Amino acid sequence: MSKPKTGQRTFSFQESVIREMTRISEEAGAINLSQGLPDFSPPREIIEEALQAIQKGDNQYTFTFGSLAFRRAIAQKYASANQIHVNPETEVTVTCGASEALMNAILGLTDPGDEVIIFEPWYENYVPDCLMAQAPIRLVDLHEPDYTFDPQELEAAVTPKTKLILVNTPHNPTGRVYSKKELQFISHLCQKYNLIAVCDETYERILYDYHQHVSLGSLEGMEDRTVTICGLGKSYSVTGWRIGWAVAAQPLSTALRKVHDYLTVCAPSPFQSAGIAALGLDQSYYQKMRQQYAQRRKILLQALDEAEIEYYKPEGAYYIMADFSSVEWDKDRYQGKGYSSDRAFAEFMAREIGVAVVPGSSFYMDQTKGTDKVRLNFSKKQATLQRAAERLRKLRTK
Ligand SMILES: Cc1ncc(COP(=O)(O)O)c(C=O)c1O
Repeated sequence: MSKPKTGQRTFSFQESVIREMTRISEEAGAINLSQGLPDFSPPREIIEEALQAIQKGDNQYTFTFGSLAFRRAIAQKYASANQIHVNPETEVTVTCGASEALMNAILGLTDPGDEVIIFEPWYENYVPDCLMAQAPIRLVDLHEPDYTFDPQELEAAVTPKTKLILVNTPHNPTGRVYSKKELQFISHLCQKYNLIAVCDETYERILYDYHQHVSLGSLEGMEDRTVTICGLGKSYSVTGWRIGWAVAAQPLSTALRKVHDYLTVCAPSPFQSAGIAALGLDQSYYQKMRQQYAQRRKILLQALDEAEIEYYKPEGAYYIMADFSSVEWDKDRYQGKGYSSDRAFAEFMAREIGVAVVPGSSFYMDQTKGTDKVRLNFSKKQATLQRAAERLRKLRTK
């Protein structure tokens, strides 16, 4: 009897390398700085709201696009914090995490063959999302050492088939925060070539030093051509609650809402109620959160400085791209398995140093890029990072 065959839609991409590093980390008993999930608790107030919501019976489907009270809270937050003005009835869609909102936008706003511009290195979902939507990808380099794009290269990537441009600020994996000038150039291109910007602003609240977050959707002329995506996960340390949203003008929202409706029906009800409490937290919460992240960043940057490892100093989000080309390590032992140098180095890090990191090439389409880099994540308790820093001191440079 012949065996059933799977579809080919998923053949062109691999399972996430980050999950693989998490598995190796567990095997090796390493401190896992690969996956971007906090090991500390969310604010107590919002946990209580979630518990109460369950007890009060908030356990069934909400309205598909999210409870109206939560959508109103989101619209209010965008008006006051992002200078984006939307109608909560028709222009806010609550989703299962920012991840789902991204997929809804890409599927809802493209036809097969429409091209999507992505800045490289990228957050790992963008490429599989586009491949599943059969939307060819045009990559634009974020150039080292400061991960900025060349405006001419960006404009050259636009073709008559370009439909979307995906922008992620603050940026994963580099920690870059796009400047207003860069966003103005992207806005100019969107208007010149009639493109839609899909803006992933998942880390909008996590900023360092003097860096400010600007929403591309708030720039003049972008009102009708921007989907702004965010969620509760990173700002409130509740990545497992799976609450995200997409904010966009009605015609764009109408298209992406259809995907959302048939994909997931609605996001988890009790966590939408808790989301209202989260968005209602006062400014002191964000100030404290930023101070704590600044402390966490400092611990790892100090450890890298001591080990004389170069890195890009993150301006936002909670990742560091570090350059391990100066490190002495047992290349032959780990590269013998046929791995790229960064994948082999990441395995060396987990097994010999006891700190799991993500190989740099996993953020690039061309696997020869990023091979001298690894990404470390510092959304961890200071004590966890201190232990990781102790271990990083074992590294020796040439
Ligand atoms: C840039 C970026 N966008 C989206 C997501 C996914 O967010 P969510 O957990 O809300 O789906 C992540 C998660 O790490 C991310 O780093």
